[in-house]
Amino acid sequence: HKVLVLHGPNLNLLGTRQPEIYGDETLADIDNALRERAAQAGWEIACRQSNHEGELIDAIHAARLDGTDAIIINPAAYTHTSVAILDALNAFDGRVIEVHLSNVHKREAFRHHSYVSLRADGVIAGLGSQGYHAALEALIAAG
Ligand code: DQA
Repeated sequence: HKVLVLHGPNLNLLGTRQPEIYGDETLADIDNALRERAAQAGWEIACRQSNHEGELIDAIHAARLDGTDAIIINPAAYTHTSVAILDALNAFDGRVIEVHLSNVHKREAFRHHSYVSLRADGVIAGLGSQGYHAALEALIAAG
């Protein structure tokens, strides 16, 4: 089994970016912990971050062809704007879980709508980095 973890724009700043909202762990901390858990379960994992919408789309396209079974995605601000990321995910056959560190529903109204949720099999928000772990556990449990 193979999972792609995809992080959208500004998530490279985790740890220093509004830590009161997003926590003080860095993206490398989160990715390393996910890698450890995946390895333990015998899953292959690739973690990628991009600030560019097209690069996220290219990564989703690559996942269609390289045997990736599932995508865990935090599309960050593109969640609320990107029909193109939704379209790319609609062309991917595996499972998709959408993760947000913060509870987007408790925040500004423009964060309440997600294009990606139209495709996601599961959505997790507000659990901080534990949300990524919950997503990975769900995938592992489902096999
Ligand atoms: C986010 C929530 C988005 O609204 C925001 O634009 C982000 C991060 C989250 O993880 O809570 O950049 O996806």
